[in-house]
Amino acid sequence: MSKLWGGRFQKETDRLVEDFHSSISFDARLYAQDIRGSMAHARMLGETGVIGREEAKILIEGLKELLHEIEAGKVEFEVGAEDIHMNVETLLTMKVGDVGKKLHTGRSRNDQVALDAKMFIKEELKNVLHLLLDLEKTILNLAEENLETVMPGYTHLQKAQPITLGHHLMAYFEMFRRDYGRFADTLKRADVMPLGSGALAGTTFPLNREMVREELDFAAITLNSLDGVSDRDYLLEFESSASILMMHFSRLCEEIILWASDEFSFVVLDDAYSTGSSIMPQKKNPDVAELIRGKTGRVYGNLMGSLAMLKSLPLAYNKDMQEDKEALFDTVDTVKKSLLTLTPMLGTMKVNKANMAQGAKGGFTNATDVADYLAKKQVPFREAHSIVGQLVFKCIEEGRVLEDLAIEEYRNYSTVFDEDIYEVIDIYECVEKRVLTGGPAPTTVAAHIDSGRTWLSNERL
Ligand code: ARG
Repeated sequence: MSKLWGGRFQKETDRLVEDFHSSISFDARLYAQDIRGSMAHARMLGETGVIGREEAKILIEGLKELLHEIEAGKVEFEVGAEDIHMNVETLLTMKVGDVGKKLHTGRSRNDQVALDAKMFIKEELKNVLHLLLDLEKTILNLAEENLETVMPGYTHLQKAQPITLGHHLMAYFEMFRRDYGRFADTLKRADVMPLGSGALAGTTFPLNREMVREELDFAAITLNSLDGVSDRDYLLEFESSASILMMHFSRLCEEIILWASDEFSFVVLDDAYSTGSSIMPQKKNPDVAELIRGKTGRVYGNLMGSLAMLKSLPLAYNKDMQEDKEALFDTVDTVKKSLLTLTPMLGTMKVNKANMAQGAKGGFTNATDVADYLAKKQVPFREAHSIVGQLVFKCIEEGRVLEDLAIEEYRNYSTVFDEDIYEVIDIYECVEKRVLTGGPAPTTVAAHIDSGRTWLSNERL
């Protein structure tokens, strides 16, 4: 196939090079953005008189037909035409004749590819934002059902203090709300239209960039042509926001994997979101959670690969940048699939409230409350800490819990102890009294959920 840029060449491209530098195998995915961008460009060329109005019309009609044909699976792209941009132009010219050769007036693939990628990422950001809201809604519902589900809170994965599952889940609600903010912010910065930057130095054609911006629904146009073609920040921002999101997913998934184990038995995953073993008939594995945890690595890898690819690149376009796409597509696919499976997995998960409460009762999760009790009676906290440490040691030695100790035994360690200590160490009391904003008390978490619902309905608008 003769090259669109073949004029100054005397020899055919080496067959291996042709294959090596062609991106059509993956950037074909941008066909819709490429064609919509080309339509806007053609319309503007006609309006500004750079080409004839009739010519613009023919180009637009041809592009429209091509779009339908691609969508109907009737088009085969050519490796020889290198990438989606030149495939579209070649196919258009085959369809509409020589006028097709005018489409690329005042444009370079360098600003074209930046445009396509931004259009793509804007759409996908909206999809991700949408899916994140679905996840947040599921979390709010689950948290509400478990406002009073007492469970052990951990530090160092050692039992620490009692909390509720509702409280625990609302921690993830906050994380995902920040993720949402990061993606929404990325969307704002991606919303700047680069076409008109040309190869690197703009163009002498009297293009109307505003017109293209409006047709393609961008908020603004880029203000420096070098930056317009060199910038891949929107992609890095997407990939880093995705990495942080996946890190949150992996923490949640890890907890679910632990909770679903026989040792914890805090939750039971629905059969639809679990899988079996080929040899051990009894097994039911939390594969979805494990896979999301595992896929976190590839999303980090995509970010690292993109950062490394862009490092030290001189302005403006360099062929290295073609490497940005597979990382972007893979990140989009991984994040969306993770969201699409995580949300229903959470929504169908059964909570074993009795086991959670049982877990909270062990491990001296109320020990801090005993120390606080003494401190409230003016025993210096450091002293109180030491007294309770000794009480805990005694209990461990004797195989008992703090609730079992008689008041005389308490008094042997401090005369400040009174009968009211038993109320204070009740696990449910420990949770209910933690009413400070951010704390696990059901009333506090209920208020948090309420404000979360308000946020959710405002974002849904
Ligand atoms: N396929 C290229 C990419 O994805 C498009 C831009 C190519 N520009 C160029 N001058 N080779 O980056």
